[in-house]
Amino acid sequence: MKRKKIKKIIDSEKIAAGEVCERPANVVKELIENSIDAGANEIRIVVKKAGKTLIQVIDDGMGIPSEEIILAFERHTSSKIRTIKDLDNLSTLGFRGEALASITAVSQVEIISRTESDEVGVQIFIDGGKCLDKKEISCPKGTNIKVKNLFFNIPARRKFLKSDATELGHITDLIQRYALAYPDIHFIYQHNELTILNCPSNDLKTTVFHIYGKSSAKYMELIKYSEDGMYFKLHGLLGHPQLSKKNRNYSSIFINHRYVISDLLFRAVKEAYKDILMIGKYPFFILHIEMDPSKIDFNIHPKKLYIRFENEDFIYNKVYNILRKFVEEKFIIKETKYLEPELDKYVIKPEENVKQPPRKVDDEAVTRSSKAENTLKKEEFIEKPVQLRLTDQDKIETSQNALLADTYIREKYIITENFPKLHLISHTGQLSNKVYVLLEGLNENDEPGLFILDQHAASERINKEFFLEMYEKSKGSKQRLISPLKIEVSATERFFLESNLSEINKLGFNFEHFGGNTFILREIPSIIQKLPKTELINEIISDITEIGKERSFAEVKEEIINYMACHKSIRGGDDLSLKDIRDLILDLSQCKDPFHCAHSRPTLRFISLKELDKLFKRRV
Ligand SMILES: Nc1ncnc2c1ncn2[C@@H]1O[C@H](COP(=O)(O)OP(=O)(O)OP(=O)(O)O)[C@@H](O)[C@H]1O
Ligand SMILES: [Mg+2]
Repeated sequence: MKRKKIKKIIDSEKIAAGEVCERPANVVKELIENSIDAGANEIRIVVKKAGKTLIQVIDDGMGIPSEEIILAFERHTSSKIRTIKDLDNLSTLGFRGEALASITAVSQVEIISRTESDEVGVQIFIDGGKCLDKKEISCPKGTNIKVKNLFFNIPARRKFLKSDATELGHITDLIQRYALAYPDIHFIYQHNELTILNCPSNDLKTTVFHIYGKSSAKYMELIKYSEDGMYFKLHGLLGHPQLSKKNRNYSSIFINHRYVISDLLFRAVKEAYKDILMIGKYPFFILHIEMDPSKIDFNIHPKKLYIRFENEDFIYNKVYNILRKFVEEKFIIKETKYLEPELDKYVIKPEENVKQPPRKVDDEAVTRSSKAENTLKKEEFIEKPVQLRLTDQDKIETSQNALLADTYIREKYIITENFPKLHLISHTGQLSNKVYVLLEGLNENDEPGLFILDQHAASERINKEFFLEMYEKSKGSKQRLISPLKIEVSATERFFLESNLSEINKLGFNFEHFGGNTFILREIPSIIQKLPKTELINEIISDITEIGKERSFAEVKEEIINYMACHKSIRGGDDLSLKDIRDLILDLSQCKDPFHCAHSRPTLRFISLKELDKLFKRRV
């Protein structure tokens, strides 16, 4: 790569200018981009205190000659473009000639650099924009820049920086994107002496393995597309639907190796996954597009994150068509092969159901109920194992027993203080849409009527209180796994887990750091009934990391508990046996706030017989 001289940009006023550094991650971004533009093969990033006290970037790129180094720190000086017209053929990440000037204005900078042709290097110190010293130094080829005490001269700005975990989360996220954008560059990233990422020059799939772990790399398919005579290439990795995420932040789009946020392209990818993702889930993918830079405008935002295409419809359709064909071939045709064992784990086999021990109602529940007006005796709460299923396909083992159990389960009222007295009505329980359960009972004024239970909302409330009690009072049971699970996580997730390990374990887990990006899981909350697969645990970890990575655990505690509650809940659409329904009502009746789900939606609605009479004009 040939070096051009650093010069003043002629029409610099036409270039999108603005805030370059608002937080440490912005500084890291600018320095990494400079190293990439300098043709580095290895980039080492060292940060201390989440970049607040030190951000150091060391590269083995082309370096800056001694006679140009002061100019490099002036505003609107660059070796990359001379005039705004050069943006049409932009092949570098930098083009504004602004980054170093902005960084040095708000920090204390030390830079050492040497070009290949120079025998000795140069070292300069800049403090708040003023050059304090410049001298010769012997050093390896490349550039080594230290940015210390960011915003030391703007206390208000420093004060508004977020917690170390948050700032570090942004830096880690950013470095990961660059590693994905340039898999052929060796990235090493250390924080407070701890290596967070060491990703040697690789193919994209190995880079994904280093960043997101084994399970992600395994379920990603390589796509490669190009057309003769056309400057348009698309390549990358597309995740199987089972890798789908709760939001789109995980996926990356790179245009000419530049990480961009493009709603247009994201929609095109999402549309390509149509009908194979669960509602509310987003595909996981790494997409590289290489195209004629003159057809894209990068100059619309100072952070260079957003772009505009000359012909949006053309790009959307092109990307959609290529990806849809690929998704159909790779995932839709293979769907049964991938999904059958997955589905299996959600289906409760009839034998398992029969073997379940009878549910016990604890003494506390009985004491509580004994205070209620309509008291029942303790033994009336103790249930027998039930083999009955509600629908035809659920085989009845012995019709006589089943009938008894049916009658028993339907007729027994559930009575708990501050909760309606309920029982299942004659011939139905769950409505056919499997969202609501119909019950008969008495409201708080002893008026008879119909109760409609939202099965998901109810289950979510029960789980929420389980996790809350677990977290706050260490009440609630855990189960030890027969053989501990080895969980591989991404660099961001590792950081989140490590810094919040005791808090997360308070939710009923027992995670231990095993080394590197591996954790060992020994215990799980008993509410996660079956031995979970690593994928399920990985999904939980990545989702709670996403919720928590930008804020302190205390701030996101409730959101995480709500997530756990929702994640473990019975869903609308799930089949419920009579026993399941009864268990659900019993558990709900013992909640502190039985009438609202974790997100404050109602769990139970009542319509009195009187109101029904009015509806049917039997009464006025
Ligand atoms: N790590 C580096 N190795 C070699 N040269 C560098 C390095 N960092 C900066 N430079 C030189 O300093 C110049 C100024 O850098 P600066 O980041 O301020 O501007 P830019 O990269 O040209 O544009 P932008 O503001 O968009 O980043 C660059 O054009 C480049 O010539
Ligand atoms: Mg730059």
